[in-house]
Amino acid sequence: AQSFEKKILCIGAGYVGGPTMAVIADKCPRYKVTVVDIDAGKIAAWNSDTLPVYEPGLLDVVQRARGKNLFFSTDVPAAIAEADIIFVSVNTPTKATGVGAGMAADLRYWENTARQIRQCADTPKIVVEKSTVPVKTAEAMAQILSMENGGNLFEVLSNPEFLAEGTAVADLENPDRVVIGSRQTPEGVAARDVLVEVYANWVPREKILTSNIWSSEMAKLAANAFLAQRVSSINTIANICESSGANVQEVSRAVGMDRRIGPKFLNAGVGFGGSCFKKDILSLAYLCREAGADAEADYWESVVRINEHQKERFVRRMLDAMFHSMADKRIALFGFAFKPDTGDIRDAPAITIAGRLLDEGAVLAISDPRALDGARSVFGDADGRVEYVEDPYEAAKKSHAIAVLTEWQAYRDLDYTAIYAAMEKPAFFFDGRNVADHAALFDMGFNVYPVGMPA
Ligand code: NAD
Ligand code: UGA
Repeated sequence: AQSFEKKILCIGAGYVGGPTMAVIADKCPRYKVTVVDIDAGKIAAWNSDTLPVYEPGLLDVVQRARGKNLFFSTDVPAAIAEADIIFVSVNTPTKATGVGAGMAADLRYWENTARQIRQCADTPKIVVEKSTVPVKTAEAMAQILSMENGGNLFEVLSNPEFLAEGTAVADLENPDRVVIGSRQTPEGVAARDVLVEVYANWVPREKILTSNIWSSEMAKLAANAFLAQRVSSINTIANICESSGANVQEVSRAVGMDRRIGPKFLNAGVGFGGSCFKKDILSLAYLCREAGADAEADYWESVVRINEHQKERFVRRMLDAMFHSMADKRIALFGFAFKPDTGDIRDAPAITIAGRLLDEGAVLAISDPRALDGARSVFGDADGRVEYVEDPYEAAKKSHAIAVLTEWQAYRDLDYTAIYAAMEKPAFFFDGRNVADHAALFDMGFNVYPVGMPA
Protein backbone atom coordinates (compact mmCIF):
# COMPACT_ATOMS: atom_id res chain seq x y z
CA ALA A 1 0.00 0.00 0.00
CA GLN A 2 1.10 3.51 -0.78
CA SER A 3 2.12 5.53 2.27
CA PHE A 4 0.77 9.04 2.51
CA GLU A 5 2.34 11.98 4.30
CA LYS A 6 -0.98 12.96 5.92
CA LYS A 7 -4.46 11.53 6.12
CA ILE A 8 -7.23 14.05 5.78
CA LEU A 9 -10.89 13.28 6.37
CA CYS A 10 -13.97 15.36 5.70
CA ILE A 11 -17.27 14.47 7.33
CA GLY A 12 -20.11 15.71 5.11
CA ALA A 13 -19.94 15.25 1.31
CA GLY A 14 -22.17 18.18 0.35
CA TYR A 15 -21.68 21.34 -1.69
CA VAL A 16 -18.72 22.35 0.47
CA GLY A 17 -17.15 19.07 1.59
CA GLY A 18 -17.02 17.42 -1.85
CA PRO A 19 -15.48 20.24 -3.92
CA THR A 20 -13.15 21.41 -1.12
CA MET A 21 -11.67 17.97 -0.59
CA ALA A 22 -11.43 17.30 -4.32
CA VAL A 23 -9.30 20.41 -4.71
CA ILE A 24 -7.12 19.57 -1.69
CA ALA A 25 -6.53 16.08 -3.08
CA ASP A 26 -5.77 17.45 -6.53
CA LYS A 27 -3.29 19.99 -5.17
CA CYS A 28 -1.64 17.67 -2.63
CA PRO A 29 -0.93 14.22 -4.13
CA ARG A 30 1.07 13.32 -1.01
CA TYR A 31 -2.03 13.39 1.18
CA LYS A 32 -4.76 10.81 1.34
CA VAL A 33 -8.11 12.58 1.35
CA THR A 34 -11.28 10.74 2.31
CA VAL A 35 -14.81 12.17 2.28
CA VAL A 36 -17.56 10.40 4.21
CA ASP A 37 -21.29 10.93 4.50
CA ILE A 38 -24.21 9.15 6.13
CA ASP A 39 -26.08 9.53 2.83
CA ALA A 40 -25.05 6.41 0.87
CA GLY A 41 -26.73 7.67 -2.30
CA LYS A 42 -24.60 10.78 -2.25
CA ILE A 43 -21.40 8.79 -1.77
CA ALA A 44 -22.36 6.51 -4.66
CA ALA A 45 -22.88 9.60 -6.81
CA TRP A 46 -19.45 11.00 -5.84
CA ASN A 47 -18.01 7.66 -6.95
CA SER A 48 -19.77 7.92 -10.32
CA ASP A 49 -19.48 10.39 -13.17
CA THR A 50 -22.80 12.00 -12.24
CA LEU A 51 -21.63 13.98 -9.23
CA PRO A 52 -24.26 15.05 -6.67
CA VAL A 53 -23.42 18.74 -7.17
CA TYR A 54 -23.00 20.50 -10.48
CA GLU A 55 -19.99 22.84 -10.56
CA PRO A 56 -18.11 23.88 -13.69
CA GLY A 57 -14.76 22.04 -13.81
CA LEU A 58 -15.46 19.83 -10.80
CA LEU A 59 -15.74 16.52 -12.62
CA ASP A 60 -12.24 16.98 -14.11
CA VAL A 61 -10.75 17.67 -10.69
CA VAL A 62 -12.50 14.66 -9.16
CA GLN A 63 -11.49 12.36 -11.99
CA ARG A 64 -7.85 13.39 -11.69
CA ALA A 65 -7.65 12.43 -8.02
CA ARG A 66 -10.36 9.84 -7.37
CA GLY A 67 -9.03 6.36 -6.63
CA LYS A 68 -5.48 7.73 -6.34
CA ASN A 69 -5.58 9.90 -3.24
CA LEU A 70 -9.26 10.92 -3.11
CA PHE A 71 -11.82 8.47 -1.73
CA PHE A 72 -15.55 8.70 -1.02
CA SER A 73 -16.91 6.31 1.59
CA THR A 74 -19.72 5.64 4.06
CA ASP A 75 -17.44 3.97 6.60
CA VAL A 76 -17.25 6.86 9.02
CA PRO A 77 -15.64 5.05 12.01
CA ALA A 78 -12.75 3.59 9.98
CA ALA A 79 -12.09 6.93 8.33
CA ILE A 80 -12.04 8.73 11.68
CA ALA A 81 -9.70 6.17 13.19
CA GLU A 82 -6.98 6.69 10.55
CA ALA A 83 -7.26 10.46 10.01
CA ASP A 84 -4.78 13.10 11.20
CA ILE A 85 -6.97 16.06 10.26
CA ILE A 86 -10.78 15.89 10.30
CA PHE A 87 -12.78 18.61 8.56
CA VAL A 88 -16.40 18.79 9.63
CA SER A 89 -18.58 20.12 6.84
CA VAL A 90 -22.05 18.98 7.83
CA ASN A 91 -25.15 21.11 7.35
CA THR A 92 -26.04 23.76 9.93
CA PRO A 93 -29.59 24.82 9.02
CA THR A 94 -31.81 27.25 10.89
CA LYS A 95 -33.49 25.68 13.91
CA ALA A 96 -37.09 24.76 13.12
CA THR A 97 -38.50 24.46 16.65
CA GLY A 98 -37.67 25.31 20.24
CA VAL A 99 -35.57 28.18 21.58
CA GLY A 100 -34.31 30.34 18.72
CA ALA A 101 -36.65 28.67 16.18
CA GLY A 102 -36.46 30.40 12.81
CA MET A 103 -33.31 32.27 13.84
CA ALA A 104 -30.58 30.26 15.54
CA ALA A 105 -28.40 27.64 13.86
CA ASP A 106 -29.35 24.01 14.46
CA LEU A 107 -26.15 22.35 15.64
CA ARG A 108 -27.43 18.81 16.00
CA TYR A 109 -25.45 17.47 13.01
CA TRP A 110 -22.31 19.15 14.24
CA GLU A 111 -22.72 17.75 17.72
CA ASN A 112 -23.43 14.23 16.44
CA THR A 113 -20.24 14.42 14.46
CA ALA A 114 -18.21 15.53 17.46
CA ARG A 115 -19.54 12.63 19.52
CA GLN A 116 -18.74 10.19 16.75
CA ILE A 117 -15.19 11.52 16.44
CA ARG A 118 -14.71 11.08 20.16
CA GLN A 119 -15.96 7.48 20.03
CA CYS A 120 -13.88 6.37 17.08
CA ALA A 121 -10.58 8.14 17.71
CA ASP A 122 -7.69 6.86 19.77
CA THR A 123 -4.85 8.90 18.28
CA PRO A 124 -4.47 12.71 18.29
CA LYS A 125 -6.53 14.55 15.70
CA ILE A 126 -6.95 18.10 14.51
CA VAL A 127 -10.67 18.79 14.17
CA VAL A 128 -11.50 21.61 11.76
CA GLU A 129 -14.81 23.47 11.74
CA LYS A 130 -15.57 23.95 8.06
CA SER A 131 -19.31 24.45 8.47
CA THR A 132 -20.58 27.94 9.17
CA VAL A 133 -21.38 28.04 12.86
CA PRO A 134 -22.28 30.57 15.56
CA VAL A 135 -19.39 32.20 17.37
CA LYS A 136 -18.21 30.00 20.28
CA THR A 137 -19.21 26.72 18.65
CA ALA A 138 -15.58 25.59 18.73
CA GLU A 139 -15.70 25.83 22.50
CA ALA A 140 -18.70 23.50 22.67
CA MET A 141 -16.93 21.12 20.31
CA ALA A 142 -13.81 21.10 22.41
CA GLN A 143 -15.91 20.31 25.47
CA ILE A 144 -17.66 17.37 23.83
CA LEU A 145 -14.39 16.09 22.42
CA SER A 146 -12.46 16.34 25.65
CA MET A 147 -14.84 14.16 27.68
CA GLU A 148 -13.93 10.52 28.45
CA ASN A 149 -11.23 10.14 25.82
CA GLY A 150 -8.91 12.34 27.80
CA GLY A 151 -8.00 15.96 27.52
CA ASN A 152 -5.51 16.57 24.77
CA LEU A 153 -6.31 14.15 21.98
CA PHE A 154 -8.08 16.86 19.98
CA GLU A 155 -7.33 20.40 18.92
CA VAL A 156 -10.24 22.31 17.38
CA LEU A 157 -9.60 24.88 14.63
CA SER A 158 -11.98 27.15 12.77
CA ASN A 159 -11.51 27.30 8.99
CA PRO A 160 -14.66 28.71 7.39
CA GLU A 161 -15.29 28.29 3.67
CA PHE A 162 -15.91 31.30 1.42
CA LEU A 163 -16.56 29.56 -1.90
CA ALA A 164 -19.62 30.58 -3.90
CA GLU A 165 -21.67 28.05 -5.82
CA GLY A 166 -21.20 28.00 -9.55
CA THR A 167 -17.58 29.14 -9.12
CA ALA A 168 -16.57 26.67 -6.38
CA VAL A 169 -13.55 25.19 -8.16
CA ALA A 170 -12.11 28.56 -9.18
CA ASP A 171 -12.75 29.99 -5.69
CA LEU A 172 -11.02 27.02 -4.05
CA GLU A 173 -8.05 27.03 -6.42
CA ASN A 174 -7.54 30.75 -6.14
CA PRO A 175 -9.14 32.01 -2.93
CA ASP A 176 -9.12 35.69 -1.91
CA ARG A 177 -8.00 34.45 1.49
CA VAL A 178 -8.01 31.42 3.76
CA VAL A 179 -8.89 32.05 7.40
CA ILE A 180 -7.66 29.76 10.15
CA GLY A 181 -8.63 30.39 13.77
CA SER A 182 -6.96 28.60 16.65
CA ARG A 183 -6.40 28.76 20.37
CA GLN A 184 -3.40 30.89 21.16
CA THR A 185 -1.78 28.08 23.24
CA PRO A 186 1.30 26.18 22.03
CA GLU A 187 -0.95 23.22 21.08
CA GLY A 188 -3.40 25.49 19.27
CA VAL A 189 -0.66 27.27 17.34
CA ALA A 190 1.00 23.95 16.43
CA ALA A 191 -2.27 22.58 15.03
CA ARG A 192 -2.86 25.82 13.17
CA ASP A 193 0.56 25.54 11.54
CA VAL A 194 -0.25 22.03 10.32
CA LEU A 195 -3.33 23.38 8.52
CA VAL A 196 -1.40 26.37 7.17
CA GLU A 197 1.02 23.89 5.58
CA VAL A 198 -1.85 22.08 3.86
CA TYR A 199 -3.11 25.28 2.20
CA ALA A 200 0.39 26.53 1.47
CA ASN A 201 0.61 23.75 -1.13
CA TRP A 202 -1.22 26.09 -3.49
CA VAL A 203 -2.30 29.28 -1.70
CA PRO A 204 0.26 32.11 -1.36
CA ARG A 205 1.27 32.54 2.30
CA GLU A 206 0.16 36.15 2.48
CA LYS A 207 -3.39 35.06 1.71
CA ILE A 208 -3.48 32.63 4.65
CA LEU A 209 -4.74 34.58 7.65
CA THR A 210 -4.48 33.27 11.17
CA SER A 211 -6.50 34.57 14.09
CA ASN A 212 -8.16 33.52 17.28
CA ILE A 213 -11.04 31.08 16.90
CA TRP A 214 -13.80 33.55 17.64
CA SER A 215 -12.58 36.05 15.06
CA SER A 216 -12.50 33.35 12.45
CA GLU A 217 -16.06 32.21 13.23
CA MET A 218 -17.24 35.82 13.29
CA ALA A 219 -15.45 36.71 10.04
CA LYS A 220 -17.49 34.11 8.17
CA LEU A 221 -20.83 35.39 9.48
CA ALA A 222 -19.77 38.99 8.88
CA ALA A 223 -18.60 38.37 5.31
CA ASN A 224 -21.92 36.77 4.34
CA ALA A 225 -23.86 39.50 6.12
CA PHE A 226 -21.91 42.23 4.26
CA LEU A 227 -22.42 40.54 0.89
CA ALA A 228 -26.15 40.09 1.44
CA GLN A 229 -26.42 43.64 2.71
CA ARG A 230 -24.97 44.96 -0.55
CA VAL A 231 -27.65 43.11 -2.49
CA SER A 232 -30.43 44.46 -0.28
CA SER A 233 -28.93 47.95 -0.46
CA ILE A 234 -28.84 48.02 -4.25
CA ASN A 235 -32.34 46.56 -4.40
CA THR A 236 -33.72 49.42 -2.31
CA ILE A 237 -32.03 51.86 -4.68
CA ALA A 238 -33.42 49.97 -7.70
CA ASN A 239 -36.95 50.26 -6.40
CA ILE A 240 -36.66 54.02 -6.10
CA CYS A 241 -35.04 54.21 -9.55
CA GLU A 242 -38.19 52.76 -11.10
CA SER A 243 -40.33 55.70 -10.06
CA SER A 244 -37.67 58.39 -10.39
CA GLY A 245 -36.45 57.81 -13.93
CA ALA A 246 -32.99 56.70 -12.83
CA ASN A 247 -31.47 53.47 -14.16
CA VAL A 248 -30.00 51.20 -11.49
CA GLN A 249 -27.35 49.76 -13.81
CA GLU A 250 -26.04 53.26 -14.45
CA VAL A 251 -26.21 54.00 -10.73
CA SER A 252 -24.35 50.77 -9.82
CA ARG A 253 -21.65 51.59 -12.31
CA ALA A 254 -21.21 55.10 -10.96
CA VAL A 255 -21.21 53.93 -7.34
CA GLY A 256 -19.03 50.85 -7.91
CA MET A 257 -16.22 52.74 -9.62
CA ASP A 258 -15.44 54.31 -6.27
CA ARG A 259 -12.55 52.07 -5.28
CA ARG A 260 -13.65 52.18 -1.66
CA ILE A 261 -16.97 50.59 -2.67
CA GLY A 262 -15.98 48.34 -5.59
CA PRO A 263 -18.10 47.08 -8.49
CA LYS A 264 -19.14 43.61 -7.32
CA PHE A 265 -22.44 42.53 -5.77
CA LEU A 266 -24.28 45.59 -7.01
CA ASN A 267 -26.69 43.80 -9.35
CA ALA A 268 -30.29 44.55 -8.49
CA GLY A 269 -32.75 41.73 -9.00
CA VAL A 270 -35.45 39.58 -7.46
CA GLY A 271 -33.49 39.20 -4.22
CA PHE A 272 -30.76 36.93 -2.98
CA GLY A 273 -31.26 33.21 -2.47
CA GLY A 274 -29.07 30.25 -1.64
CA SER A 275 -28.70 28.13 1.42
CA CYS A 276 -26.57 30.52 3.42
CA PHE A 277 -27.21 34.26 3.28
CA LYS A 278 -30.53 34.23 5.08
CA LYS A 279 -29.56 31.50 7.53
CA ASP A 280 -26.25 33.15 8.40
CA ILE A 281 -27.69 36.64 8.85
CA LEU A 282 -30.43 35.28 11.08
CA SER A 283 -27.80 33.38 13.03
CA LEU A 284 -25.81 36.62 13.42
CA ALA A 285 -28.93 38.52 14.46
CA TYR A 286 -29.65 35.83 17.03
CA LEU A 287 -26.14 36.19 18.45
CA CYS A 288 -26.80 39.93 18.70
CA ARG A 289 -30.11 39.40 20.53
CA GLU A 290 -28.51 36.95 22.92
CA ALA A 291 -25.86 39.54 23.70
CA GLY A 292 -28.61 42.08 24.43
CA ALA A 293 -27.73 44.02 21.27
CA ASP A 294 -31.25 44.55 19.92
CA ALA A 295 -30.48 47.55 17.72
CA GLU A 296 -27.69 45.57 16.06
CA ALA A 297 -30.01 42.59 15.54
CA ASP A 298 -32.69 44.86 14.03
CA TYR A 299 -30.13 46.25 11.61
CA TRP A 300 -29.15 42.84 10.24
CA GLU A 301 -32.69 41.49 10.22
CA SER A 302 -33.68 44.40 8.01
CA VAL A 303 -31.40 42.98 5.28
CA VAL A 304 -33.56 39.85 5.26
CA ARG A 305 -36.80 41.85 5.47
CA ILE A 306 -35.85 43.92 2.41
CA ASN A 307 -35.08 40.69 0.59
CA GLU A 308 -38.53 39.24 1.34
CA HIS A 309 -40.05 42.54 0.25
CA GLN A 310 -38.13 42.40 -3.03
CA LYS A 311 -39.68 39.09 -4.04
CA GLU A 312 -43.21 40.20 -3.18
CA ARG A 313 -42.67 43.51 -4.94
CA PHE A 314 -41.72 41.67 -8.13
CA VAL A 315 -44.99 39.69 -8.00
CA ARG A 316 -46.97 42.89 -7.36
CA ARG A 317 -45.36 44.55 -10.34
CA MET A 318 -46.40 41.62 -12.52
CA LEU A 319 -49.95 41.80 -11.18
CA ASP A 320 -50.20 45.56 -11.70
CA ALA A 321 -48.93 45.28 -15.26
CA MET A 322 -51.16 42.34 -16.14
CA PHE A 323 -54.44 43.98 -15.19
CA HIS A 324 -54.48 42.70 -11.59
CA SER A 325 -55.24 39.13 -12.50
CA MET A 326 -53.09 36.06 -13.12
CA ALA A 327 -56.03 33.68 -13.16
CA ASP A 328 -55.38 30.90 -15.70
CA LYS A 329 -52.66 32.91 -17.43
CA ARG A 330 -49.64 30.92 -18.51
CA ILE A 331 -46.42 32.39 -17.16
CA ALA A 332 -43.04 31.12 -18.35
CA LEU A 333 -40.37 31.26 -15.65
CA PHE A 334 -36.88 31.52 -17.13
CA GLY A 335 -34.62 30.12 -14.42
CA PHE A 336 -35.32 28.46 -11.10
CA ALA A 337 -31.87 27.94 -9.54
CA PHE A 338 -30.87 30.60 -6.98
CA LYS A 339 -28.05 31.70 -9.32
CA PRO A 340 -26.62 30.57 -12.67
CA ASP A 341 -24.22 27.64 -13.15
CA THR A 342 -25.73 25.61 -10.35
CA GLY A 343 -28.67 23.25 -10.02
CA ASP A 344 -29.12 24.35 -6.40
CA ILE A 345 -32.57 25.70 -5.54
CA ARG A 346 -32.16 26.10 -1.78
CA ASP A 347 -33.95 29.30 -0.76
CA ALA A 348 -34.17 30.35 -4.43
CA PRO A 349 -36.29 33.49 -4.95
CA ALA A 350 -38.06 31.44 -7.66
CA ILE A 351 -39.64 29.23 -4.99
CA THR A 352 -41.34 32.18 -3.31
CA ILE A 353 -42.27 33.90 -6.57
CA ALA A 354 -43.63 30.75 -8.22
CA GLY A 355 -45.62 29.97 -5.09
CA ARG A 356 -47.15 33.44 -5.09
CA LEU A 357 -48.02 33.25 -8.79
CA LEU A 358 -49.78 29.93 -8.16
CA ASP A 359 -51.71 31.59 -5.29
CA GLU A 360 -52.84 34.17 -7.81
CA GLY A 361 -54.17 31.42 -10.07
CA ALA A 362 -51.43 31.39 -12.73
CA VAL A 363 -50.35 28.32 -14.69
CA LEU A 364 -46.55 28.01 -14.75
CA ALA A 365 -44.10 26.70 -17.31
CA ILE A 366 -40.83 26.44 -15.41
CA SER A 367 -37.62 26.30 -17.41
CA ASP A 368 -34.05 25.93 -16.16
CA PRO A 369 -30.94 24.25 -17.61
CA ARG A 370 -30.05 22.48 -14.33
CA ALA A 371 -32.73 22.91 -11.70
CA LEU A 372 -35.87 21.28 -13.07
CA ASP A 373 -35.61 18.26 -10.75
CA GLY A 374 -35.29 20.64 -7.84
CA ALA A 375 -38.28 22.66 -8.98
CA ARG A 376 -40.31 19.46 -9.40
CA SER A 377 -39.43 18.43 -5.85
CA VAL A 378 -41.01 21.67 -4.60
CA PHE A 379 -44.22 21.90 -6.61
CA GLY A 380 -44.86 18.47 -8.14
CA ASP A 381 -47.53 18.87 -10.79
CA ALA A 382 -49.65 21.19 -8.60
CA ASP A 383 -52.89 19.72 -9.97
CA GLY A 384 -51.71 20.23 -13.51
CA ARG A 385 -50.87 23.91 -12.96
CA VAL A 386 -47.08 23.52 -13.27
CA GLU A 387 -45.18 22.19 -16.27
CA TYR A 388 -41.41 21.64 -16.34
CA VAL A 389 -39.95 22.42 -19.73
CA GLU A 390 -36.26 22.22 -20.53
CA ASP A 391 -36.55 24.28 -23.72
CA PRO A 392 -37.29 27.98 -23.08
CA TYR A 393 -38.92 28.33 -26.51
CA GLU A 394 -41.41 25.61 -25.57
CA ALA A 395 -41.98 27.15 -22.14
CA ALA A 396 -42.77 30.53 -23.68
CA LYS A 397 -45.15 29.13 -26.31
CA LYS A 398 -48.70 30.41 -25.71
CA SER A 399 -47.63 32.14 -22.50
CA HIS A 400 -48.87 35.59 -21.46
CA ALA A 401 -45.63 36.56 -19.80
CA ILE A 402 -42.01 35.61 -19.29
CA ALA A 403 -40.35 36.24 -15.94
CA VAL A 404 -36.56 35.87 -15.81
CA LEU A 405 -35.57 34.70 -12.32
CA THR A 406 -32.02 33.41 -12.90
CA GLU A 407 -29.41 35.07 -15.13
CA TRP A 408 -28.33 32.00 -17.10
CA GLN A 409 -26.20 33.06 -20.06
CA ALA A 410 -28.55 31.07 -22.34
CA TYR A 411 -31.35 33.56 -21.69
CA ARG A 412 -29.28 36.40 -23.12
CA ASP A 413 -28.84 34.62 -26.43
CA LEU A 414 -32.40 33.55 -27.32
CA ASP A 415 -34.25 34.51 -30.48
CA TYR A 416 -36.81 36.74 -28.82
CA THR A 417 -38.50 37.61 -32.10
CA ALA A 418 -39.49 33.96 -32.48
CA ILE A 419 -40.48 33.79 -28.82
CA TYR A 420 -42.66 36.88 -29.14
CA ALA A 421 -44.43 35.47 -32.18
CA ALA A 422 -45.44 32.33 -30.25
CA MET A 423 -46.82 34.16 -27.18
CA GLU A 424 -50.29 35.45 -26.30
CA LYS A 425 -50.70 39.20 -26.81
CA PRO A 426 -50.15 41.55 -25.15
CA ALA A 427 -46.87 39.79 -24.29
CA PHE A 428 -45.11 40.79 -21.08
CA PHE A 429 -41.45 40.45 -20.21
CA PHE A 430 -40.47 40.82 -16.54
CA ASP A 431 -36.70 40.84 -16.39
CA GLY A 432 -35.97 40.02 -12.76
CA ARG A 433 -32.23 39.84 -13.47
CA ASN A 434 -31.81 42.46 -16.19
CA VAL A 435 -30.38 40.01 -18.70
CA ALA A 436 -32.15 41.10 -21.87
CA ASP A 437 -31.72 43.97 -24.31
CA HIS A 438 -34.78 45.87 -23.17
CA ALA A 439 -34.93 48.37 -26.01
CA ALA A 440 -34.78 45.56 -28.58
CA LEU A 441 -37.56 43.63 -26.82
CA PHE A 442 -39.67 46.78 -26.70
CA ASP A 443 -39.22 47.26 -30.43
CA MET A 444 -40.40 43.69 -31.03
CA GLY A 445 -43.63 44.52 -29.25
CA PHE A 446 -43.04 43.22 -25.72
CA ASN A 447 -44.24 45.15 -22.68
CA VAL A 448 -40.91 45.20 -20.86
CA TYR A 449 -40.43 45.50 -17.11
CA PRO A 450 -36.79 45.49 -16.03
CA VAL A 451 -35.70 45.85 -12.39
CA GLY A 452 -34.62 49.30 -11.33
CA MET A 453 -35.42 51.24 -14.48
CA PRO A 454 -38.62 52.75 -15.71
CA ALA A 455 -40.76 50.24 -17.66
P1 NAD B 1 -24.96 20.04 2.42
O1 NAD B 1 -26.30 19.83 3.03
O2 NAD B 1 -24.80 20.08 0.95
O3 NAD B 1 -23.97 18.90 2.95
C1 NAD B 1 -23.88 18.49 4.28
C2 NAD B 1 -23.71 16.97 4.29
O4 NAD B 1 -23.41 16.54 5.62
C3 NAD B 1 -24.94 16.19 3.84
O5 NAD B 1 -24.62 15.40 2.71
C4 NAD B 1 -25.29 15.32 5.07
O6 NAD B 1 -25.79 14.05 4.72
C5 NAD B 1 -23.96 15.22 5.77
N1 NAD B 1 -24.04 14.87 7.18
C6 NAD B 1 -24.85 15.39 8.15
N2 NAD B 1 -24.60 14.80 9.32
C7 NAD B 1 -23.62 13.88 9.12
C8 NAD B 1 -22.91 12.95 9.96
N3 NAD B 1 -23.18 12.86 11.27
N4 NAD B 1 -21.96 12.16 9.39
C9 NAD B 1 -21.70 12.24 8.07
N5 NAD B 1 -22.31 13.10 7.24
C10 NAD B 1 -23.27 13.92 7.74
O7 NAD B 1 -24.39 21.38 3.08
P2 NAD B 1 -23.30 22.38 2.44
O8 NAD B 1 -23.98 23.31 1.50
O9 NAD B 1 -22.12 21.60 2.02
O10 NAD B 1 -22.94 23.24 3.72
C11 NAD B 1 -22.16 22.71 4.77
C12 NAD B 1 -21.73 23.84 5.67
O11 NAD B 1 -20.89 24.74 4.94
C13 NAD B 1 -22.87 24.70 6.21
O12 NAD B 1 -22.56 25.08 7.51
C14 NAD B 1 -22.87 25.91 5.31
O13 NAD B 1 -23.35 27.05 5.98
C15 NAD B 1 -21.41 26.07 4.99
N6 NAD B 1 -21.13 26.73 3.70
C16 NAD B 1 -21.84 26.44 2.58
C17 NAD B 1 -21.51 27.03 1.36
C18 NAD B 1 -22.27 26.74 0.10
O14 NAD B 1 -22.01 27.38 -0.90
N7 NAD B 1 -23.21 25.81 0.06
C19 NAD B 1 -20.42 27.90 1.29
C20 NAD B 1 -19.70 28.17 2.45
C21 NAD B 1 -20.06 27.58 3.65
C1 UGA C 1 -22.33 33.12 -0.91
C2 UGA C 1 -21.02 33.89 -0.76
O1 UGA C 1 -20.77 34.63 -1.95
C3 UGA C 1 -19.85 32.94 -0.48
O2 UGA C 1 -18.67 33.70 -0.24
C4 UGA C 1 -20.17 32.10 0.75
O3 UGA C 1 -19.16 31.16 0.99
C5 UGA C 1 -21.48 31.36 0.52
O4 UGA C 1 -22.53 32.33 0.25
C6 UGA C 1 -21.92 30.56 1.70
O5 UGA C 1 -21.54 30.80 2.83
O6 UGA C 1 -22.76 29.69 1.43
P1 UGA C 1 -23.49 31.74 -2.85
O7 UGA C 1 -24.69 31.83 -1.98
O8 UGA C 1 -23.10 30.42 -3.38
O9 UGA C 1 -22.21 32.29 -2.06
O10 UGA C 1 -23.68 32.69 -4.12
P2 UGA C 1 -23.57 34.29 -4.35
O11 UGA C 1 -22.84 34.51 -5.60
O12 UGA C 1 -23.07 34.97 -3.15
O13 UGA C 1 -25.09 34.70 -4.60
C7 UGA C 1 -26.04 34.68 -3.56
C8 UGA C 1 -27.34 35.27 -4.03
O14 UGA C 1 -27.23 36.69 -4.18
C9 UGA C 1 -27.81 34.75 -5.39
O15 UGA C 1 -29.20 34.49 -5.33
C10 UGA C 1 -27.52 35.89 -6.34
O16 UGA C 1 -28.40 35.92 -7.43
C11 UGA C 1 -27.73 37.08 -5.44
N1 UGA C 1 -26.99 38.28 -5.92
C12 UGA C 1 -25.64 38.30 -5.88
C13 UGA C 1 -27.69 39.38 -6.41
O17 UGA C 1 -28.95 39.38 -6.43
N2 UGA C 1 -26.99 40.47 -6.83
C14 UGA C 1 -25.64 40.52 -6.81
O18 UGA C 1 -25.07 41.56 -7.23
C15 UGA C 1 -24.94 39.41 -6.34
